[in-house]
Amino acid sequence: MHAPEKMIFAALVVVLLFPATVGATAMQPAETCLRRCGNIDIPYPFGVGSGCHLETGDWTFSLSCNRTADGRHRLYNYQIEVLDMSVRRGQLRIYSLINPWCYNATTGGMNSQNNWWYNMSITNFRINDALNRFTVVGCNSLAYIRSLNETADRYMTGCMAMCPGVGRLENGSCAGVGCCQTAIPSGLNAYQISFEEKFNNTGDTAGFSPCSYAVLVEAAAFDFRTTYVTTDEFVVANDRQVPLVLDWAIGNKTCDEAKGNASAYACVSGNSECVDSKYGRGKGYLCNCSAGYDGNPYLLNGCHDINECEDKSVRYPCSVPGTCVNTMGGYNCVCPRKTSGNAYSGTCEEDKSQLGWQIAIGVSVGVIILIAAASCAYMVFAKRRLAKIKREYFKQHGGLSLFDEMRSRQGLSFTLFTQEELEEATGRFDERNVIGKGANGTVYKGTTKDGEVVAIKKCRLASERQQKEFGKEMLIVSQINHRYIVKLYGCCLEVEVPMLVYKYIPNGTLYGLIHGRRDRDRDVPRIPFTARLKIAHQTAEALSYLHSWASPPIIHGDVKTSNILLDQDYTAKVSDFGASTLAPTDEAQFVTFVQGTCGYLDPEYMRTCKLTDKSDVYSFGVVLLELLTCRKALNLEELEEEKYLSSQFLLVVGENRLEEMLDPQIKDETSIEVLEQAAELAKQCLEMLGENRPTMREVAEELDRLSKLAQHPWGRQESAELEALLLRGCGSASPTTYSGHSGIQLGSTRNISFSDTAYIGIKSPR
Ligand SMILES: *[C@@H]1O[C@H](CO)[C@@H](O)[C@H](O)[C@H]1NC(C)=O
Ligand SMILES: *[C@@H]1O[C@H](CO)[C@@H](O)[C@H](O)[C@H]1NC(C)=O
Ligand SMILES: *[C@@H]1O[C@H](CO)[C@@H](O)[C@H](O)[C@H]1NC(C)=O
Ligand SMILES: *[C@@H]1O[C@H](CO)[C@@H](O)[C@H](O)[C@H]1NC(C)=O
Ligand SMILES: *[C@@H]1O[C@H](CO)[C@@H](O)[C@H](O)[C@H]1NC(C)=O
Ligand SMILES: *[C@@H]1O[C@H](CO)[C@@H](O)[C@H](O)[C@H]1NC(C)=O
Ligand SMILES: *[C@@H]1O[C@H](CO)[C@@H](O)[C@H](O)[C@H]1NC(C)=O
Ligand SMILES: *[C@@H]1O[C@H](CO)[C@@H](O)[C@H](O)[C@H]1NC(C)=O
Ligand SMILES: *[C@@H]1O[C@H](CO)[C@@H](O)[C@H](O)[C@H]1NC(C)=O
Repeated sequence: MHAPEKMIFAALVVVLLFPATVGATAMQPAETCLRRCGNIDIPYPFGVGSGCHLETGDWTFSLSCNRTADGRHRLYNYQIEVLDMSVRRGQLRIYSLINPWCYNATTGGMNSQNNWWYNMSITNFRINDALNRFTVVGCNSLAYIRSLNETADRYMTGCMAMCPGVGRLENGSCAGVGCCQTAIPSGLNAYQISFEEKFNNTGDTAGFSPCSYAVLVEAAAFDFRTTYVTTDEFVVANDRQVPLVLDWAIGNKTCDEAKGNASAYACVSGNSECVDSKYGRGKGYLCNCSAGYDGNPYLLNGCHDINECEDKSVRYPCSVPGTCVNTMGGYNCVCPRKTSGNAYSGTCEEDKSQLGWQIAIGVSVGVIILIAAASCAYMVFAKRRLAKIKREYFKQHGGLSLFDEMRSRQGLSFTLFTQEELEEATGRFDERNVIGKGANGTVYKGTTKDGEVVAIKKCRLASERQQKEFGKEMLIVSQINHRYIVKLYGCCLEVEVPMLVYKYIPNGTLYGLIHGRRDRDRDVPRIPFTARLKIAHQTAEALSYLHSWASPPIIHGDVKTSNILLDQDYTAKVSDFGASTLAPTDEAQFVTFVQGTCGYLDPEYMRTCKLTDKSDVYSFGVVLLELLTCRKALNLEELEEEKYLSSQFLLVVGENRLEEMLDPQIKDETSIEVLEQAAELAKQCLEMLGENRPTMREVAEELDRLSKLAQHPWGRQESAELEALLLRGCGSASPTTYSGHSGIQLGSTRNISFSDTAYIGIKSPR
């Protein structure tokens, strides 16, 4: 912006601002102005004395407060006595003279004067036509009122008061009898009152009603008395004067015209408005405080807000439940909290939406609290329920009696594991820790807190009876401490199906050892006969121990090569004789169903459904055959008669063709006599009748004898060499390929194939 332009802009601002800032407002009264005369308030624009009223060039607002002889103050507007004035209504009340026309007894006729002139002399006053009445009092009276407008619109009206009988006069009733009232035209400013001479108080009337009266009076201030007719009370009581209401206005301009000259415009207060005179154009204007404001619009800041809420003069502006809130220029009626509606004139009703919100919030909070509480309660409940379930399982599985027993027998190395302990030991039963899997359960390898490596058997099913007897049976089984039997460390009873915790045996099963390699080449047998005999002997010792240790005898029920485990130095460890293989003591507990393993099952048991220690002997016979022949107990690929190793063996032996079946390797190692004696032992074990079979004790002794016999010519083999041979298995590759590793690691990587029929020797009939 360039300098000259700036100057022009500045000049414009000055020009524009000047009228607003310097513009004169209409004159305002001095503080010292008299505002009260006697008991009459004097609001501006009225005032007494110069500078105290609005100057209009005439007497409109100029008043004089004169003290009369009797000490009273009287307010005059020019020569007219003033009663009071109202800025809000724009009215001035003056005294109007009562005009009497009386009978003169002296003259015998009426007084001479019978008309009067009234000139307001001030154009800004108009006689209010609505509030005033032309009133005539008399008994034979007719009076006129006429406007004094010389130019035009001469107006005249009359009112007649008659008295048909004095008795008919009525107090308060001005309706033609002794009194007459009539309305006047609008805009009256100067008027004349006169009596019609034909109607006079001479004659009869004079006797009781000497005077007639005519006056322009405020209707509300006139109350007819019958005595007004008969006496001079009307004049005397009112001191010859009655109120008359005048309307005043400012100037002779309309509002729009007046606003054009700000220095003369009278409506100076804020929140005020200008109202044109109701008497028409050229009759001036009035100022009024805006709606909601009250006060004096002719004074600066004269209009102030009305506190409608506390205005005692008006009815409480809101409906009863509503709350009034004052605002500038108005008020608001608001419904109480939580309600809505029309607080001004209607009713406030409970707010549904707000209520809805509150309900919604309340309900939400409630629901959240409820959910939280429910969750907590559920968690506590679930925990308790879990604990209860655990307790119940524990009880159900005979854990209590077991527990009692364990307490009574000090030094019992049997542990009752908790579910958590076993979960921790197996990494929550991680799939990677599975070392054996069967139809009825899974075996996990794990490490207990004590650092003991264990095999944990987790079965899938258990019969009711099994569950009931489990604890008791466990107690018995746990006491078995034999070097050729897998040590049972403990169990977990607080689960649906009890879990068994065994010592971990690292080198797999005898089945794995014999049949580990699947190749058909049987020309190079690798397990020395002495090793085989040793394992057989150890197994027999274990079974013998089971049969003799307890009464009733513990029957393994599922003797087979996959249930004979091998530890580091290839010592046999009989496993999985299960908790339920205690021999039944009465008929009711007879085992009616044993899911033994095909190929090992005692035929007598199949017939009698009675599991005995001799059933184990039969099964052991099959194991012995497997060791001698390196063939599986059941070969489904073979022809019918060759399917079962036992039946095939018996057939071959019967035909004296034993050598055909024997593992070629051991035929080279061992004298045929020893082999034949071993075969003979197997044959005895496989006798159809259990009673014809030898006991496990006898079998063990015979094997011990054969062991010594077999060892004799060759002496003990080196352990490493034995291991190497063992690792190859039956019919394995040449030992020359063996590089001399420790078998322990290999064995530990092998899956231990537990029997799928663990401890199911006793099952309820279905
Ligand atoms: C009131 O007094 C003033 C002077 O004080 C006088 O001029 C005026 O005429 C008086 N008015 C009446 C009605 O007496
Ligand atoms: C009656 O008339 C006479 C003569 O005009 C007058 O002197 C007298 O004052 C009047 N009386 C009354 C009461 O007006
Ligand atoms: C009324 O009074 C004013 C001023 O005194 C005067 O000019 C006018 O002529 C009067 N009117 C009548 C009808 O007397
Ligand atoms: C007289 O009549 C004229 C014409 O109607 C009007 O303008 C004027 O205001 C009247 N004067 C009075 C005093 O009533
Ligand atoms: C009317 O009222 C006056 C007193 O104001 C009384 O003296 C008079 O008797 C009353 N007249 C009638 C008819 O009641
Ligand atoms: C009064 O009225 C009568 C007739 O009603 C009339 O003859 C008489 O002249 C009147 N008197 C006066 C003074 O007007
Ligand atoms: C209005 O009033 C002013 C004086 O205040 C006067 O000079 C003017 O003639 C009046 N106008 C009319 C139309 O009466
Ligand atoms: C405005 O009003 C003042 C005071 O009444 C007056 O002196 C002035 O002449 C008026 N101006 C106009 C333009 O009417
Ligand atoms: C002034 O305003 C009020 C309402 O705000 C209204 O009732 C009143 O009649 C107004 N007065 C005039 C003279 O217009």
